[in-house]
Amino acid sequence: MAPLPTRRPRRLRRTPAIRNLIGETELSASDLILPVFVTHGAQVAREVGSMPGVHHLSVDGRLDAHVGRAQETGIRAVMLFGLPAKKDEAGSENFAPDGIVQQAIERLRAAAPRLIVFTDVCCCGYTTHGHCGMVRNGEVDNDLTLEVLGQVAASHAAAGAHFVSPSGMMDGMVAAIRAALDQTGHTECGILSYAVKYASAFYGPFREAADSAPGFGDRRGYQMDPRNAREALREAALDEAEGADLLMVKPALAYLDVIQAVRQQSHLPLVAYNVSGEYAMVKAAAAKGWIDERMVVLEALRGMRRAGADAIITYHAIDAAGWLAEEQRS
Ligand code: PBG
Repeated sequence: MAPLPTRRPRRLRRTPAIRNLIGETELSASDLILPVFVTHGAQVAREVGSMPGVHHLSVDGRLDAHVGRAQETGIRAVMLFGLPAKKDEAGSENFAPDGIVQQAIERLRAAAPRLIVFTDVCCCGYTTHGHCGMVRNGEVDNDLTLEVLGQVAASHAAAGAHFVSPSGMMDGMVAAIRAALDQTGHTECGILSYAVKYASAFYGPFREAADSAPGFGDRRGYQMDPRNAREALREAALDEAEGADLLMVKPALAYLDVIQAVRQQSHLPLVAYNVSGEYAMVKAAAAKGWIDERMVVLEALRGMRRAGADAIITYHAIDAAGWLAEEQRS
């Protein structure tokens, strides 16, 4: 007969109090960033079909109420995405002083002085072609795009954004934006770079939410190939050298190894983006009663923290913050 074990790891799992005492990973509402979609119009709260619980909100009491609810649960940061009144080839509303995102920034900064405001900086939601950069001769022109991204970032900073977040995977985007911000007197505005962003099918529901699907081709000419991890370290190093204040890896769940690798390479704060497709899968399975939504969400978010993410952008933010508060009380 085999000898009985003298080493018993189960001793450390016997009670909730013991488990809490030695838990290696903390997750709290202050680690979460809530994505928010803002749209023109009055009193609008239009649910996104593929993302139950996520709404397009008008920049009025609807936005205030939603963000107010998030703040009550302990959330301290939002990431703004805008739906323009109309799209054109250049994406003009993207850098308009009275564009929808610029309006939302101003409103939130006035109404919620302690809230951290991040903004997505990209061309895809604003242009008729739906690509993340300017299109010339049927191709996304990197260097032409840099100029536009600088203008967009400066307009967000002028409206009061704390951090601008370029998500288009253009080469040199961080340096171009840093220069544009500094030249316009916005040295205090930081950059969260979508440094490592994969060409992912997990963005499907977002493209409905932001009405940003490319009109021709796909994004594989600028977003990363899911097979590559070393390339992620190069992208992260370049953006760090260009002056990024925080780095992001996106999506999160299929790329936890990449989060860990970037964490080990860089001393910058690291953000994981728990993207729309990850959210939609959980919502759909939970609606069918096939999984326990609360348990699955908290497990996934803790996995991202364990892999090395300091903060997480997630559509589950308000629910998760509420569940974490309940855990604290129990
Ligand atoms: C814009 C952008 C995208 C997302 C964030 N910013 C979509 C894309 O690149 O196609 C995805 C977010 C999500 O899926 O939740 N470039």
